[in-house]
Amino acid sequence: MTPPTPLLRLDTNATDVHGENQRLRALGPAVRVELPGSVPAWVVTRHRLLRDLLADPRVAKDPEHWPALREGAVPEGWPLIDFVTNRGMTTADGADHRRLRDLVTQALTPRRVAALRPAIEATTGRLLDALAAHSLGHEHRQGGEDGHDGGRAPGQASAPVDLRRHFAYPLPMTVIGDLLGVPVDRFDEFRSLSASVTSSATTPEETLATQRRLRALLADLVAERRARPRKDLTSQLIAAREADDRLTEREVVGTLILMLVAGHGTTLNLITNATRALLTHPDQRAAVTGGRRPWSAVIEETLRWDPPVAHFPLRYALDDIAVGDVVIPRGAAILASYAAAGRDPEEFGPDAAEFDLDRPTPRHLSFGFGPHFCLGASLARLEARVALPALFARFPRMALAVAPTELVPLPSFVSNSVRELPVRLGTG
Ligand code: HEM
Repeated sequence: MTPPTPLLRLDTNATDVHGENQRLRALGPAVRVELPGSVPAWVVTRHRLLRDLLADPRVAKDPEHWPALREGAVPEGWPLIDFVTNRGMTTADGADHRRLRDLVTQALTPRRVAALRPAIEATTGRLLDALAAHSLGHEHRQGGEDGHDGGRAPGQASAPVDLRRHFAYPLPMTVIGDLLGVPVDRFDEFRSLSASVTSSATTPEETLATQRRLRALLADLVAERRARPRKDLTSQLIAAREADDRLTEREVVGTLILMLVAGHGTTLNLITNATRALLTHPDQRAAVTGGRRPWSAVIEETLRWDPPVAHFPLRYALDDIAVGDVVIPRGAAILASYAAAGRDPEEFGPDAAEFDLDRPTPRHLSFGFGPHFCLGASLARLEARVALPALFARFPRMALAVAPTELVPLPSFVSNSVRELPVRLGTG
């Protein structure tokens, strides 16, 4: 066995997630890294080893197995603390995990997800109309004021619009908001709180303020639904709590936070990252819009090549665990590094770093693996399957409004995407 590799500090601003992962892979199959606050953890950089680890019973998710937390080595207001302490299925093991997961599974059965398609299509259509109107409105304002068109190229007359903000975000937010019964006027607040929860670069003050605000908002929602139950998942969780005490009040709020954050931020990244991939790979775009490759290939290849979740915190080793020729010691914290696994040449070949729709359907791990496999995978795939073809059909001349190098990554090694995706719809 080789000795532990030196600590490498993960970039909290994620300025180059894929470059960093390439360096991590070169260091070995499992690498010790430093998280914010000088908290040590391990990343597993190989697809096969990560898959094995995700199904390994010697790996737990309940933070009671993390000595560093018990011993006070994790600082107050630590940016990733919500992933560790939010009470719900992502921080539970065994029978506890099944109890918390089963309640939500019922809301996301294949039949229920399929039944959401008409609503997803209607929301997509409405958002595409609004997108065109938004861009044009912008153009009129700008053109009207200074009286010239800003040197636009033919076919590029429309003003830039942030596709992430005005399309990729509101679709999954509306879907999960409806599922949970969140009032529409709260959506934007949840969006900014979710972005803060998944950031790895927040200050302690921001982290604590976000926690307080999120819990207060969810407590309001629970109180509202307790007084006036509806058919949404929030009302169902409250009923399960009250009928047979199946979950605690803290678990109700924790599950709602999890569903809100997991249910929109990830799909938002998938739609953003897939659109960005197609806009920067014209030949691949032509292959899919020309019908030579299916949209499912765009979705699965994006999930592999540029996954919405780069590193997921945290798991804990219940024993010394051999990962390739390295040992992760008992009590160590582990990040599931989906973005590193997605470009592992041992699994996907020497061209793993290429976005290639001709690749046979990649068996990526980007929805997780094992007992914690993503509960919303089929819903996320359905949303992307409806949204992407509709977007590219409506705006066949859509193009990036900035150079690809000007796109700024999210400040997070958990949530992997760009802050904005400015495009010209090409409708002019
Ligand atoms: C493209 C979109 C999505 C991606 C890439 C994604 C990714 C993931 C990943 C990687 C995990 C496993 C985390 C781990 O334990 O390492 C996970 C778990 C989970 N996801 Fe998703 N997710 C997506 C969409 C959704 C949606 C739409 C929902 C809800 C409607 C959702 C709900 C959940 C829940 C509840 C879990 C926890 C499962 C458990 O711990 O048993 N996800 N997701």
